[in-house]
Amino acid sequence: MNRFLCSIPQPGKRLLLLTACLSSLGGMPALAQQAGTDSAPTFSRDIAPILQRACQQCHNPDGIGPMPLLTYDQVRPFAALIQDRVSKRMMPPWHVDPDVGIQRFKNDMSLSHEEIALISQWVDGGAPQGNPADMPPALELPSGGAWRLEKSMGPPDMIVKSTPYDVVANGQDQWWTPRIKFEGLDTERWLRAAEFKPSFPLGKKVVHHGHATLIPEGESKRYVSLARYGVGKSWEMFPEGTGLRVPPKGEVRWSLHYFPAGTDVADNVVEVGLWFYPEDTIPEFESKGEVMFRVDGLNGGTRAQDLVIPPNSYKALQGSHVLQSPAVIHSYRPHMHMRGKVMTMEAIYPDGHKKVLSQVNNYNHNWQLTYIFEDDARPLLPKGTVLQFTSFYDNTSDNPLNPDPNQWVVFGQRGVDEMSHAWLGITYLNEEQYAQAVKERRVAEEVLGSGGTP
Ligand code: HEC
Repeated sequence: MNRFLCSIPQPGKRLLLLTACLSSLGGMPALAQQAGTDSAPTFSRDIAPILQRACQQCHNPDGIGPMPLLTYDQVRPFAALIQDRVSKRMMPPWHVDPDVGIQRFKNDMSLSHEEIALISQWVDGGAPQGNPADMPPALELPSGGAWRLEKSMGPPDMIVKSTPYDVVANGQDQWWTPRIKFEGLDTERWLRAAEFKPSFPLGKKVVHHGHATLIPEGESKRYVSLARYGVGKSWEMFPEGTGLRVPPKGEVRWSLHYFPAGTDVADNVVEVGLWFYPEDTIPEFESKGEVMFRVDGLNGGTRAQDLVIPPNSYKALQGSHVLQSPAVIHSYRPHMHMRGKVMTMEAIYPDGHKKVLSQVNNYNHNWQLTYIFEDDARPLLPKGTVLQFTSFYDNTSDNPLNPDPNQWVVFGQRGVDEMSHAWLGITYLNEEQYAQAVKERRVAEEVLGSGGTP
């Protein structure tokens, strides 16, 4: 099955790594060599393109980053801090282990080892501006209140809103769980994409995470996960041919987790934008959206029994789930709290061999990132595969996010308590669809020439 789970590094990254290896042999600065010049890296020529790709989506005047990083004058005072944050892999926020598991993601904003080295070299060299004529053209950045998906998808077909909530300036976590009638559609429709949008500018500061779930009218068992949000994760788009079935009527249940940010935020409303397939289109695959796979609280035990972390100690926790039908995984989003450090997702195939699909090894509770696999890199798993999650907690003073290593930590909703589960964007397939998907994957690999042995 190996071959269907490609973990080829991005071609660009591979090339850059190669350049880095070659140049380290030659003892020459990598990019200077690549650019065919012996000059040290400059902001205009070498650094600005990296910031455009990996930083400016957040570090712009309307973005969630605390300072804009668009011009040399804006960046220069932060050069040393930038060097520190990128070399510790704290920025950009991307916590997947770059050396383990599948590395091809649709929303990858991480820096390659080479880019990190280049930034560091630029800062060590005095962070020179270089020739302003070398600057790439400025990016067109969306305004703070815009839908992220609007550029590629147009305006949403439908907007669902929460009811207003007053977030006080100071204090602890606050939850808001309104239930709102949903009667916007004439017939059942298939969702192609959804985006969760806190208000701008204040809502973005106080909404920590949230869900909007639709309970279809007259059905008690089915729930439709319309949109889920966490800082750093706001939208979801299904691959062509895959969708989420949305009933015409029902009730939207909101679960909003606010965290105060020093100012009162009155009447805060969250919006969810929905993009549907055309009315007469029924996609071949029905996705379940993001589904929770527990790592804590398995086997019917009380959650507090299996998640107890003594003071100044470490703890590992494992949870396994057997797939009852073949499945394809679109995205991976581990969830833990302040002591969480690592969550590994492995597949144990029916023939017994085991493979790490993805591993977050630098988890940071302040971010709720989702790692969206490239279409042809999505794990394609046969029925009977065991999905095994291992989470690891650090309740010592070595963990910079630990508020107090002398506390006992148990399961709970607050950030200072702990949890452990993964949200997987998943579509279950029947055997026929699975066989077809395997065949297509094999053809694609042959065309791409990436090979791999079964
Ligand atoms: C997804 C949004 C996002 C991206 C992308 C991003 N940042 Fe940030 N950055 C933030 C936020 C939010 C903070 C403040 C919270 C924190 O430190 O985690 C921050 C903090 C920082 C800080 C620390 C500022 C301080 O005063 O402590 C630096 C330096 C920084 N970012 C640099 C970068 C660089 C360089 C890149 C690109 C290589 C980048 N960031 C990419 C959102 C982002």
